[in-house]
Amino acid sequence: MEKLVIEGGRPLSGTIQIHGAKNAALPILAASIMASGTHKLSNVPDLLDIQVMLEILRSLGCQAEHYGDTVTVQTSTAYSSHVPEELMGQMRSSIFLMGPLLARFGSVTVYQPGGCAIGERKIDLHLKGLQALGAKIEETGNRIVCTADSLQGAEIVLDFPSVGATENIMMAAVMAEGVTTLYNAAREPEIQDLQNFLNTMGADIIGAGTDTITISGVRSLSPCLYRIIPDRIVAGTVLVAAAVTKGGVTLERVNPAHLTSVIHVLRRAGVQFAIDGDIIQVSCPTRPKAVERIVTSPHPSFPTDLQAQVMVLLSLADGLSVIKETIFEGRFKHVDELSRMGADIRVDLSSAFIRGVPRLYGATVEATDLRAGAALVIAALAAHGTTIVEQIHHIDRGYDRIEEMLSGLGATIKRYTPVPSE
Ligand code: EPZ
Repeated sequence: MEKLVIEGGRPLSGTIQIHGAKNAALPILAASIMASGTHKLSNVPDLLDIQVMLEILRSLGCQAEHYGDTVTVQTSTAYSSHVPEELMGQMRSSIFLMGPLLARFGSVTVYQPGGCAIGERKIDLHLKGLQALGAKIEETGNRIVCTADSLQGAEIVLDFPSVGATENIMMAAVMAEGVTTLYNAAREPEIQDLQNFLNTMGADIIGAGTDTITISGVRSLSPCLYRIIPDRIVAGTVLVAAAVTKGGVTLERVNPAHLTSVIHVLRRAGVQFAIDGDIIQVSCPTRPKAVERIVTSPHPSFPTDLQAQVMVLLSLADGLSVIKETIFEGRFKHVDELSRMGADIRVDLSSAFIRGVPRLYGATVEATDLRAGAALVIAALAAHGTTIVEQIHHIDRGYDRIEEMLSGLGATIKRYTPVPSE
């Protein structure tokens, strides 16, 4: 099993260009099947999840190539609307194919993506939204078949501003007859990016980024060229890594407006910033300060996908901090691993009480999910001694060769790949 071996204690320094956003590229790749022809997408990161999405598109009859940070998808050869169960089992985001396949073929077969390490991850809001547009849904075991001779525009109110449900309903409504208005929609930047991609193909959508999105149905869409936004979660991860190592790093090709709540919290911890256009300079010369209370919530509040990483910074801060996780019920699995590195964290229901310690120590730890894995890598960069991070396939799902990203900033980090005989 591959591992990361990290020597801690070196301040990060230098410049890094932030790669494209996984959580924008995935729904955009799924949406590409709605327009027949060749799409060219740039700033697409080379991640395990992207590879699975391209595999799914190929299994539906598309041709898809990934070279450098560019992907071409040829969708005119697509013939199937049945997403293979095996591939669905590898990645929850395969659920994003529901809206696009229903819009293109009038039917789609998918499988319950099931829960993951961070929570139950239901899809009831996705299904309710598609039903409101006129889809008929049959569930047999974990198999879900949706059909619709034609989709009709509707007024839809989401019980919770779910990112995935907002994106699936938005895609399905693009070619529905009439107007769809989606209330209490999620407002994440990745949803704005999806709206911009769909509109570049010829859709007629307004309001993404606000809690009300209006989709006026169109008859057809055309393939397009499109550039994916930068990954704000990768950028946030680098900001925290720079801070915990008391380093000074410059991030380029990033959108500071996507990180307002994150920068606000880090400033409260004493982290310093200089922001100019798509460049952020970050430094943290002194020991971080405790932050009284952080609550993860839908955008534009503090993102759950940076909760674990910021917990590492607070585990080295001067004083007691509290983080309340309101999005996922099982997103504190990194706490036990951080405690093995000497952190002092107590969890009570959905809150973590973090009493800062002067230092962390190297240990052998396990990534339990994508962002928990990133947090352990950050902790290892600050720790005294050597840390071995295992189960790193979780990290590869969302970071494009994290060891190269960080060694480019002066970290001592190596990927260890066992030779077959061992
Ligand atoms: C997206 O997941 C992101 N994934 C997640 O990032 C991110 O954590 C999450 O949004 C919240 O910001 C992608 O974009 C690919 P939700 P998604 O639907 O769409 C409940 C990462 O680390 N819910 O907003 O699955 C659900 O159980 C990943 O990159 C229902 O109850 O998130 C959860 O508690 C992890 N019914 C909450 O809403 C539904 O039908 C938020 O889920 C849908 C969701």
